[in-house]
Amino acid sequence: MRAINARKRSALLAYLYLKAFHIIFVMSWFAGLFYLPRLFVNLAMAGEGAEYDRLLLMARKLYRFMAPLALLALALGIWLWLGFGFSGGWLHAKLALVAGLIGYHLYCGKLYRDFAARRNHHSHVWYRFFNEIPVLVLVAVVLLVVVKPF
Ligand code: HEM
Repeated sequence: MRAINARKRSALLAYLYLKAFHIIFVMSWFAGLFYLPRLFVNLAMAGEGAEYDRLLLMARKLYRFMAPLALLALALGIWLWLGFGFSGGWLHAKLALVAGLIGYHLYCGKLYRDFAARRNHHSHVWYRFFNEIPVLVLVAVVLLVVVKPF
């Protein structure tokens, strides 16, 4: 009986640590998903010159830094999902939104390369709207995982 309780306790601890680090990496990834498009707003407004180059460098460093954070957030999420047997409509809806988020992340890479090649053709207003997408996804995902409405 005591052995079963000890096993249950260590499984619960593993789940809680995994979830805590999942949330930490999700938050760190989102810091980039919020800030990178803000840099694009400024890049779209900056003329050629030192300011443009500085913003471009910041965007490149940030984009590179975001990839490992995203991979860790996703890996821990998959570990939670498969390791602890989560299922349900909320999880499928969340996975669909996460797939969209990965697409958004990769599209940011394409936008960065366009800026680097001096071939951006979107206005700063377009980037301001583009910037709101991760906010909406974050609200939807947090409601899904916390409330689990279906
Ligand atoms: C492959 C991608 C992902 C998978 C498979 C996944 C899976 C999971 C699982 C199974 C849980 C535990 C749910 C529970 O304890 O009730 C969880 C928690 C959580 N996930 Fe993810 N996740 C992924 C990506 C993300 C992303 C991108 C976000 C943010 C947009 C996110 C936000 C959260 C939050 C906030 C929690 C904590 C919920 C709570 O404590 O009630 N996850 N995730």
